[in-house]
Amino acid sequence: MPTHLLDDLDAWRKAWLDARNDPDGFWLRITHDLIAWRRQPSRGLDGSYLTLREGPITWFADGTLNVTESCIDRHAQAHPDKVAILWEGDEPGDVRRITYAELLDLTSRAANVLLEAGIQKGDRVIIYMGMVPEAAIAMLACARIGAIHSVVFGGFSAEALRDRVRDCAAEVVITQNVGLRGGRTLPLKATVDQAIQGESSVRRVLVLHRAPAPDTHLHPLRDLDWHQALAAASPVCPPVECAAEDPLFILYTSGSTGRPKGLLHTTGGYITYVAWTHRQVFGLQPDDIYACMADVGWITGHSYIVYGPLANGATTFMFESTPTYPDAGRYWDMVERHRLSIFYTAPTAIRAIAAQGDAHVTRYDRSSLRVLGSVGEPINPEAWRWYHDVVGEGRCPVVDTWWQTETGGICISPLHGATPTKPGAATLPLPGIIPALLDGDGHLIWGPGEGYLCLEHPWPGQARTVWGDHDRYIATYFSAYAGRYFTGDGCRRDADGYHWITGRVDDVLNVSGHRMGTAEFESALQSHDSVAEAAVVGFPHPIKGQGVYAFVVLQPQAETPDAFFDDLNRLIREHIGAHARVDRFQLAPALPKTRSGKVMRRILRKIVEEQPEQLGDLSTLADPQVVQALLAGYIPA
Ligand code: PRX
Repeated sequence: MPTHLLDDLDAWRKAWLDARNDPDGFWLRITHDLIAWRRQPSRGLDGSYLTLREGPITWFADGTLNVTESCIDRHAQAHPDKVAILWEGDEPGDVRRITYAELLDLTSRAANVLLEAGIQKGDRVIIYMGMVPEAAIAMLACARIGAIHSVVFGGFSAEALRDRVRDCAAEVVITQNVGLRGGRTLPLKATVDQAIQGESSVRRVLVLHRAPAPDTHLHPLRDLDWHQALAAASPVCPPVECAAEDPLFILYTSGSTGRPKGLLHTTGGYITYVAWTHRQVFGLQPDDIYACMADVGWITGHSYIVYGPLANGATTFMFESTPTYPDAGRYWDMVERHRLSIFYTAPTAIRAIAAQGDAHVTRYDRSSLRVLGSVGEPINPEAWRWYHDVVGEGRCPVVDTWWQTETGGICISPLHGATPTKPGAATLPLPGIIPALLDGDGHLIWGPGEGYLCLEHPWPGQARTVWGDHDRYIATYFSAYAGRYFTGDGCRRDADGYHWITGRVDDVLNVSGHRMGTAEFESALQSHDSVAEAAVVGFPHPIKGQGVYAFVVLQPQAETPDAFFDDLNRLIREHIGAHARVDRFQLAPALPKTRSGKVMRRILRKIVEEQPEQLGDLSTLADPQVVQALLAGYIPA
């Protein structure tokens, strides 16, 4: 049976070989088992990475379903009183429990509100919220009626939000009057107002009243109060029957160019993949209280707070606050109070808490914990050991899960104690995932070695296209190595076949698990009148994984007042959001460029990694002298 937990390496190996030898049969068996289809699919994969110009790949193309039936209705029938969403707010002890029966009621009401607002199958809805249950309900309400949601992380600025609203021509925005996080109040509604001011496709704004905020303004013809609208709506909303390849959501993510890409995930393959990986990686048991600390604004929140756990009928925990509010013991306080059994967070949080001392952990009872997970960035062996030894008391397996917005779900990871782990290794590919390492010349590396990480064969959860720009999807992911998906990551494979992700090899930064493009920073910096040019690179940071270092070239005769760098960071906050910030600025006479004018970032990276002996060949530079000047002006931490 495909849904049996793979509980040792032999079981993993057999499943991996099955999936490689007969991918269609493998995934059809899994989806028949795990997902509530209206019409069962008989087809597996159609298309390949070599036929993308003819159109996206498809999985289960002849099946029909509505994902909310898998995520809600069947569980509301089988165990209506089981808690679906267990929520803790910003203040410790502010708790809500939403059962599967209640989730069905709330989702149906919200779906009816969207229908009344004129939203139909295929229309886009932006969700700009903090970590409240209503964010998940809003996502599910869209899915209920076949609308496409695009969640925008609540830290993004009005300008970034406007770009996303425009790109997908959203007709409704769902938000909160204010967000609460770490004792602070975030003006979410005011940011939405700013983002959609003037000409906009948005016809309705649905506003959840999260906390008293006297100056929130509701536009009488456009804005609706969430609670009032849901109270007035019918609690019954028949799910719309969708084709397996109908879009489920768009999620914007950063790449190497300035413009974020709207990755499109579809229905049948995505729900199959996230349900199955959630079950296998964490070894899910019926009475688990499963907790993922990500934000629904990122893919981890989509796949492993909302869709995967709910498809599996689990109790999923949602957390509004931060790991250090009111102090660094918050996570373990919640583990003790809620008896959390699976705990999934990011290395940044682990390092930040570890730096505050073990006492914050050990004063709480962690005996409920069974499996610990890590996601979002490479976990250094020291942080891994602390997580394993101190948090997990040496008895909980650590699953270091490697994946991406593009992959939809976990691709390389140990399985819940079935896979022997090594601190810092993402270990082995899940069944259905065939990693390949390539060298700089595009040759396959066999056996141990280090290279560019590609994946060979399509799997059901992968993003199908970039919203509105299929050519960009092909160019970004499938042009570097024909017939292979290029991940943008570097990876080392050891003699046991274990994978160690080394980080991005393109111009993407990963700061505290937040994925940002260097080009987004650079365009913000260049919008300042005094800045002629700027180049941004990541440097190794002990807590954040990467910090941001900016080389700034001034316009001739430009002045740099005292607050100049603060001004630059303010611009970045306006263009991107509060989570984006340059840590160190260096004023530079020029940037190192090739004779054709291309900035050689490799050189800048080596400077900030403090490895000047590895600068490599400088002979192709237009002006090799620049490098000496940059080294001389380097600003150490
Ligand atoms: O560089 C890899 C890193 O995060 C990138 C994907 O970011 P995003 O699309 O925002 O999704 C994050 C959550 C899945 C990857 O290209 N990354 C993610 N997980 C790991 C990781 N790097 C090393 N180890 C991981 N476990």
